[in-house]
Amino acid sequence: MSTSMARNLFGKTILITGASAGIGRSTAFEFARTSPASLRLILTARRVDRLHQIAEEIEHEAGTGVRVHVVKLDVSKPEEIERFVQGLPEEFRAIDVLVNNAGFMSGVEQAPDIPPNVIRDVWATNVTGVINMTQAILPIFKARPDGGRGDVVMLGSLAGREPYVGGALYCSSKAAVRAFTDALRRELIATRIRVITVDPGQVLTEFTTIRYRGDQAKADAVYAGCEPLTPDDVAEVIVFAAGRRENVVVADTLLFPSHQASPTHVHRKS
Ligand SMILES: NC(=O)c1ccc[n+]([C@@H]2O[C@H](COP(=O)([O-])OP(=O)(O)OC[C@H]3O[C@@H](n4cnc5c(N)ncnc54)[C@H](OP(=O)(O)O)[C@@H]3O)[C@@H](O)[C@H]2O)c1
Repeated sequence: MSTSMARNLFGKTILITGASAGIGRSTAFEFARTSPASLRLILTARRVDRLHQIAEEIEHEAGTGVRVHVVKLDVSKPEEIERFVQGLPEEFRAIDVLVNNAGFMSGVEQAPDIPPNVIRDVWATNVTGVINMTQAILPIFKARPDGGRGDVVMLGSLAGREPYVGGALYCSSKAAVRAFTDALRRELIATRIRVITVDPGQVLTEFTTIRYRGDQAKADAVYAGCEPLTPDDVAEVIVFAAGRRENVVVADTLLFPSHQASPTHVHRKS
């Protein structure tokens, strides 16, 4: 006997960006665990050595029903996205689910002191990267009957809904993704293509260490007295959304750990 989620995901091809760490990595494992009988996973990120290790672990854990294809891909480089799609092996071409997860932030500077290279890289990854990936994969979805089929899952953020001090660049990048996502859902209304956003609050990943440019003490202070979400918590919601019956769209999900109600409304145990 299998769950309805396993049946709905059976035979699907799932593409995850930023699968080398955090939420992307957990999402790869969660898909494999949920539908181990027949699934193809395409894992992409810049740190390809990590991806190979994850692929090995998944294949070991899930067995031969899950096939994994690893590709080095920097989503901030449009030419790499183009090459990536052209270079997909036949077996992995019919993508059913795109998880636009790759994203980052560096620093907490406020305007006018945000470094120009950070503005460029955050926008190129979090916004242009998401738009370019979506544009690259949508033709695969649209070639299917009824105007098209497939899922676009966006990793938005609480930051895209409620901006905070020291987050002008990151918050605006996620707000841009949110606007793109909402417009896309409307544009694709005559199809079977589902557009899904999952917007987490605090999640304990490498994200905050990268944000504080490797200063672990500052990263740890963000979570002092708190119990943030784990990347597995977020992955479960992504897989749940993608595993619904085709006519069900889990369009928009905001996820908090229980002590959090907004970017700044955080209850800390003393
Ligand atoms: N952690 C949080 O509190 C939180 C909250 C809300 C939303 N989010 C969002 O969730 C997503 C995942 O973040 P996370 O918390 O899992 O962070 P993470 O642990 O730092 O993972 C980020 C992933 O994105 C990849 N990545 C970064 N830049 C990339 C690029 N240019 N091209 C391709 N891959 C790239 C990284 O891989 P490589 O370095 O190997 O390329 C890594 O696999 C992000 O979009 C983030 O904004 C996070």
